[in-house]
Amino acid sequence: MKQTVSKNIEDTRKLAADFLQNLKTSQNGATVVCLSGDLGSGKTAFAKEAGDIVGIPRDEITSPTFVIMKIFDIQHPDFKRLIHIDAYRLQKESELINLGWNEMVAEPKNLILIEWPEMVEGLIPKEARTIKFTFVDEQTRMIEME
Ligand SMILES: Nc1ncnc2c1ncn2[C@@H]1O[C@H](COP(=O)(O)OP(=O)(O)OP(=O)(O)O)[C@@H](O)[C@H]1O
Ligand SMILES: [Mg+2]
Repeated sequence: MKQTVSKNIEDTRKLAADFLQNLKTSQNGATVVCLSGDLGSGKTAFAKEAGDIVGIPRDEITSPTFVIMKIFDIQHPDFKRLIHIDAYRLQKESELINLGWNEMVAEPKNLILIEWPEMVEGLIPKEARTIKFTFVDEQTRMIEME
């Protein structure tokens, strides 16, 4: 477990860049990254920076109120798509299945970032990576990577 303190968005961006650089692709379908932590702990902020690095404008990645999932085509050596999911409002795992989860997770060219993975725990592949976010103070976040 690697723990890092982020003092600002720039730090979070560097962590996202390092993470993407060192990310091992799954041998077994999509590469799934769980973004775990309380409300406001920086999960979407991290996804925005990761998205920006692969060419997605920051304002396109949001903490969606109504949108559970967004799919972006990206230019990346390993991935064709970045899929950002916020599972916070899902009541049942079947709702994510209905959004096409099984097909998405079977596709090796998908990079899936999922906030609130705890809501759909039974659907997360065993080899998924987890990044844990903790609010420390207004500008400071603890970011832990397995
Ligand atoms: N060091 C930091 N790293 C990341 N975000 C930070 C940092 N300092 C302050 N922030 C701010 O914290 C907020 C984090 O909000 P964000 O939407 O990313 O939280 P979240 O974990 O996705 O919450 P939710 O569960 O509601 O989706 C943002 O407004 C961001 O600008
Ligand atoms: Mg969020």
